[in-house]
Amino acid sequence: MNHNQTIQSTFSLVCLFFFTSPLVFCQLDYSFYDDTCPNLSKIVTYAVSSAIANETRMAASLIRLHFHDCIVNGCDGSVLLDDTSSLRGEKGAGANQNSARGFEIIDDIKANVEEACPSTVSCTDILTLAARDAVYLAGGSYYYVPLGRRDATTASLSAANEQIPAPFESLRNITAKFTSKGLDAKDVVVLSGAHTIGFAQCFTFKDRLFNFNGSNQPDPALHTSLLKNLQSQCPNQDSSNSNLAPLDPVTINKFDNVYYKNILNKSGLLQSDQALMGDATSASLVNKYSKYPYLFSKDFGASMVKMANIGVLTGQTGEIRKNCRVAN
Ligand code: HEM
Ligand SMILES: *[C@@H]1O[C@H](CO)[C@@H](O)[C@H](O)[C@H]1NC(C)=O
Ligand SMILES: *[C@@H]1O[C@H](CO)[C@@H](O)[C@H](O)[C@H]1NC(C)=O
Ligand SMILES: *[C@@H]1O[C@H](CO)[C@@H](O)[C@H](O)[C@H]1NC(C)=O
Ligand SMILES: *[C@@H]1O[C@H](CO)[C@@H](O)[C@H](O)[C@H]1NC(C)=O
Ligand SMILES: *[C@@H]1O[C@H](CO)[C@@H](O)[C@H](O)[C@H]1NC(C)=O
Repeated sequence: MNHNQTIQSTFSLVCLFFFTSPLVFCQLDYSFYDDTCPNLSKIVTYAVSSAIANETRMAASLIRLHFHDCIVNGCDGSVLLDDTSSLRGEKGAGANQNSARGFEIIDDIKANVEEACPSTVSCTDILTLAARDAVYLAGGSYYYVPLGRRDATTASLSAANEQIPAPFESLRNITAKFTSKGLDAKDVVVLSGAHTIGFAQCFTFKDRLFNFNGSNQPDPALHTSLLKNLQSQCPNQDSSNSNLAPLDPVTINKFDNVYYKNILNKSGLLQSDQALMGDATSASLVNKYSKYPYLFSKDFGASMVKMANIGVLTGQTGEIRKNCRVAN
């Protein structure tokens, strides 16, 4: 078999060739790197488990980084690009600056993967696998993700500022951001369940503690004992803005369904978490996931696969970056 035939037969598994036109349609595939990088998943899993062993929070940070990659112009590794003289990237967006974490872990994995299989595996696939492993290693479900995404050659600060949902937004607005990406109202409830681990800075929920919606009162939808704790962790002055509070104070590092129990208990941390009770359909899902951990696990995996399919580049589009921080 010559080189071209090899490429052709690798491609034909996942691509449709139209002989009458130059178009090639490719899809993600579960065995995409089986021949070209057979040790990929081992390399990723080993690095993610070391990173979590060193710092438990890293599981949460990697899951969020994957979300912020996918929700902005698709899962294309754009969130990983550093600013250059000609590019203002997504790391400077409101939701990412001094907040998005885990870049060094992705760099380390990429370096190991390049050693095993040079210029073969995209940065966005590495991030997708790292997030999948993080969910599992934190105690959540294991789900299979198809691979074959390619990396963008650019990023967009303005798209990141517009497309990543903010915790102050209404459920309606957040749902609109999800549906514009092919996700739905159920995915909002399911994927918000990732807030079962990790931390938020005080400024992301402080108005709930002291001056909710301009009322000079705390948010009435916040449990009084949690309110007292949070008011002492986040005193009403700017110097507390970057203090951290756990998104799920009951089981801080465990990827479980307690997030939903907290919401039923008026103990959702972010306004956007508690807002899931503001709509009958989402409230009934919160109720269901609080009762049926297995259902949450199963639905979470399915919604993550959906999220990981948003706007992917495949086939000949995009590139396989050599360094996740810079386009080739
Ligand atoms: C539904 C709309 C969402 C909003 C408004 C939102 C907002 C936030 C905010 C404000 C933080 C705290 C960031 C900081 O203080 O630095 C946070 C953390 C986090 N978010 Fe979300 N998020 C949403 C959806 C998601 C989704 C879909 C996922 C993943 C599937 C996710 C995973 C996480 C994780 C794991 C953390 C903790 C990160 C860490 O500790 O490093 N979030 N989110
Ligand atoms: C995969 O890793 C094993 C050791 O874990 C090594 O012996 C083997 O050569 C590696 N295979 C490839 C194709 O890199
Ligand atoms: C371990 O985690 C700490 C933060 O807790 C971080 O500063 C350090 O770089 C990490 N070390 C490694 C080897 O990842
Ligand atoms: C929801 O979106 C609309 C239109 O973009 C905007 O005017 C409004 O301020 C948003 N509301 C909230 C609570 O974020
Ligand atoms: C905030 O206040 C406005 C005006 O009083 C009201 O219409 C809106 O429903 C309030 N939002 C929340 C989340 O309570
Ligand atoms: C209900 O909320 C209180 C206060 O935040 C908390 O101590 C308790 O553990 C919560 N119960 C459950 C089941 O989440």
